[in-house]
Amino acid sequence: TWSAVPAGPPDAILGVTEAFKADKDPRKINLGVGAYRDDQGKPYVLDCVKKAESILEASKPDKEYLPITGHAEFTKNAVKLAYGADSTPLKAGISSTQSISGTGALRIGAAFLARHYPHSKVVYLPSPSWGNHVPIFRDSGFEVRNYTYFDPTTLGLNFEGLKADLLTKAPENSVVLLHACAHNPTGVDPTPEQWAEISDICKERKLFPFFDMAYQGFASGSTSRDAFAVRHFVSQGHQIALCQSFAKNMGLYGERVGAFSLVTADPEEKARVDSQLKIIIRPMYSNPPVHGARIANTILANEDLYTQWEGEVKGMADRIITMREKLHNILTHDLKTPGDWGHIKSQIGMFSFTGLKKAQTVALADKAHVYMTADGRISMAGLNASNIAYFAESVDGAVKG
Ligand code: LMR
Repeated sequence: TWSAVPAGPPDAILGVTEAFKADKDPRKINLGVGAYRDDQGKPYVLDCVKKAESILEASKPDKEYLPITGHAEFTKNAVKLAYGADSTPLKAGISSTQSISGTGALRIGAAFLARHYPHSKVVYLPSPSWGNHVPIFRDSGFEVRNYTYFDPTTLGLNFEGLKADLLTKAPENSVVLLHACAHNPTGVDPTPEQWAEISDICKERKLFPFFDMAYQGFASGSTSRDAFAVRHFVSQGHQIALCQSFAKNMGLYGERVGAFSLVTADPEEKARVDSQLKIIIRPMYSNPPVHGARIANTILANEDLYTQWEGEVKGMADRIITMREKLHNILTHDLKTPGDWGHIKSQIGMFSFTGLKKAQTVALADKAHVYMTADGRISMAGLNASNIAYFAESVDGAVKG
């Protein structure tokens, strides 16, 4: 029956973890998937999460189904975190639903737009973007195109190219995917002034802003500062779509906690959109899992836990910044590795886009047991005091050939 089914390639990101797991060398390092590790290289369960879990356990919760759109208090608190407690649409009407983390939020949003956004079936993604954005939108019925984002010569933002593409290349009403903060994979974000210009262009060209916010707190260490772009667009009257993930900022990866929201014009419009979100979700997975949403909500709703959480997010962001400085210093000063490595320090969030070429990443995996995605992206969180010197020496070897 399945003789004509062709073998597919491994996933560009999760396939790296598979290759890493199969490697038996004790020096091996996985810098592929964006998952935080502590300074001992171990997965990190936040203390506020442990506390929330013990509070939950003591309350002996049942295992009943959640409603189709999930844990209502969790989604209320999640959108408050993103839009800000004093956000006007929060009162007027934000339609929201719990989602299977960020990917699920993107999928619900893409499905909703494919069915109900009347103006366009074209989405513009930054070049490059998170690998999974392409199939998510394509499988939802969108034509996927790119807008200029990263400049390979400066290893920074090509803002002129970005503006030109949104002003002249993207047809009016196109959907534009924007990484709210800590752009994945490049670690390069627009400045607040540049965001303001992008917002103006979207308004002028009637482009629909579709935000993916998977790293709130990881860019600057502050959840409110990282929400700048989202809040600015909303303050300018854009009716944005927003995808949120609590995988990274609460370390709830496998719990699959996220939210999708759409700014609507008024409560009546919100009620109609709410009803259609349910119609999209019910045949996909019926209703979302309960445990992770309860954890996230316990943290968001409890003042002490919330404060502790903010400290822990900052702690994770700070450790990554320390690794950026160390790696930069070893490459530049100790090893004098050819090239300019300043971008390792200036890029932000969980990733650094090293500039290493595909052949070098292959050589690093084969010869040094160091794993990263083929585009040269490294998850900075995979580095720690014990492996950073070995990693830098391996990079040095790959660059010197
Ligand atoms: C990543 O880019 O590594 C993360 O977003 C994890 C994933 O699912 O790809």
